[in-house]
Amino acid sequence: MAGSDILRLENLVTEIASDQGAVRVVDGVNLSVRQGRTLGLVGESGSGKSLTCLSVLGLLPPGGRIAAGRVLFQGEDLARKTQKALSRYRGARIGTILQDPMTSLNPLLTIGDQVGEMFRYHHNIRSAAERRRRAIAVMEQVRIPAAAERLNAYPHQFSGGMRQRIAIAMSIAGDPDLIIADEPTTALDVTIRLQILQLLRDIQRARGTAILLVTHDLHAVARFCDDVAVMYAGRIVEQGPVGAVFARPAHPYTAGLIAAVPRIAALPDRLPTIPGQPPRPGEAAEGCAFFPRCARAAAECAAVVPEPRAVGAGRAVSCFAPHLQAEAAE
Ligand SMILES: Nc1ncnc2c1ncn2[C@@H]1O[C@H](COP(=O)(O)OP(=O)(O)O)[C@@H](O)[C@H]1O
Ligand SMILES: [Mg+2]
Repeated sequence: MAGSDILRLENLVTEIASDQGAVRVVDGVNLSVRQGRTLGLVGESGSGKSLTCLSVLGLLPPGGRIAAGRVLFQGEDLARKTQKALSRYRGARIGTILQDPMTSLNPLLTIGDQVGEMFRYHHNIRSAAERRRRAIAVMEQVRIPAAAERLNAYPHQFSGGMRQRIAIAMSIAGDPDLIIADEPTTALDVTIRLQILQLLRDIQRARGTAILLVTHDLHAVARFCDDVAVMYAGRIVEQGPVGAVFARPAHPYTAGLIAAVPRIAALPDRLPTIPGQPPRPGEAAEGCAFFPRCARAAAECAAVVPEPRAVGAGRAVSCFAPHLQAEAAE
């Protein structure tokens, strides 16, 4: 249901200037995050996941720009907004959590000052005592033990998992409607990862926040996401509800990703691991970028980029030869 999308990317094209000219790092992305739900964005390293997120936030690296398309957030096109206007969205309506929590924390300031500052910035709270009270409350919400006593500690005095909790506390201090979490657990120990994802889910349930979760971890997607979007070489090749997509992937790349993960792979005709390498940005020839690695490729795949098409309830796939017989079984 398009009406319930909090974020919808339409044909988003992002380019980064290089010596060889502009390189398309995001190449016509269509993607939807539903209100109050979690969309998992997966795909190999370098496929453009982070630059998609940074495009939404207006935080592209130098030389980067949105060359085409729309970034519809609550119906407004963020691609047309000035940096000044975008800065009012960041933190307040769209929270961010990054892979390395140290990038969102200042090593020279106490945690209390940094979390408290969020309440000054987003809620204009002038009383230091009130900021302190709110900082403790939000730190308790992200389950930092002895929050009140730890307000005067510095980032390096916390473990990686605790630092990520603090980053999450800061990202929810502005009461965002959407959280963009780019590999929030990749830098953490395996045992801590699950706790952080559980925390995000609890926050979502308590606050109704939508989450765009970028991750390598298909198990995490299966467990914590409602929908999944699969990115390949700057494009979304498949999107839909996690259960349906994982049970019966329609795109050969999705099938390959799933088959490479034990326990999620439930396909009777399991595919082997995906041979070959993805193209580098700007290197892809005409046609489907997955064509050189695809076992099902036909002649037209080399010539024409497949447009997304509907393949069942809430599902879309960009492939000329998707696994469609699967739909009949659902
Ligand atoms: N600052 C940059 N300048 C030039 N190219 C970049 C920059 N950042 C990323 N890229 C290129 O854009 C592509 C997509 O990057 P990214 O969005 O970070 O991928 P992902 O997050 O999926 O691993 C990569 O091939 C990467 O090399
Ligand atoms: Mg990335």
